[in-house]
Amino acid sequence: MFDTMTVTKAAGALIGSLLFLLLMNWAASGIFHVGPAGHGAEGEEHAQAYTIPVEDAGGAADEAADEGPDFATVLASADAAKGEKVFGKCKACHKLDGSDGTGPHLNGVIGRPVASVAGFNYSEGMVAHGGDWTPEALQEFLTNPKSVVKGTKMAFAGLPKIEDRANLIAYLESQK
Ligand code: HEC
Repeated sequence: MFDTMTVTKAAGALIGSLLFLLLMNWAASGIFHVGPAGHGAEGEEHAQAYTIPVEDAGGAADEAADEGPDFATVLASADAAKGEKVFGKCKACHKLDGSDGTGPHLNGVIGRPVASVAGFNYSEGMVAHGGDWTPEALQEFLTNPKSVVKGTKMAFAGLPKIEDRANLIAYLESQK
């Protein structure tokens, strides 16, 4: 149970940060706000002074750079040996010898239709997911299994690093 002091501190912290945000917001609008007409020619000059030039094309390029290279590009230079290490995280549940454990075997999984291992008891969510395990579909699933395949019974948090996913998929491609 929380005692009153803890609750009070938590509430204090919350209100404090809200106040801070409010102040920041207010300060920012004070600095950057350019009022509508009414200042005459002088006002227009002021408006000019505050104009921040933004080049559309440049902005778009920056955004793309933030997202980093796309998956196909990373996969093209992926390292299967490193992927074998990443597969260490899957081993508890997945085998590569054609036999199934907690999860279905993953040898030959690249290009295999989703939920197609005969005799494996897939969740409804996985069956409904459909399609094939293309490298693209697999990397998306592995980013965050539970959000990509709703209701999956694969209890795995995901591989947030694109390099890990690419290396792992390169390794799985070598496991027929
Ligand atoms: C805690 C056990 C567990 C771990 C760890 C785990 N999985 Fe799974 N995995 C499962 C289960 C269970 C399923 C079946 C999911 C379902 O039916 O919803 C599954 C399903 C899959 C499928 C779909 C297979 C098919 O035939 O459609 C793929 C692909 C997969 N896992 C890859 C991985 C990879 C790659 C890793 C490691 C990065 C991993 N899993 C880690 C338990 C696990």
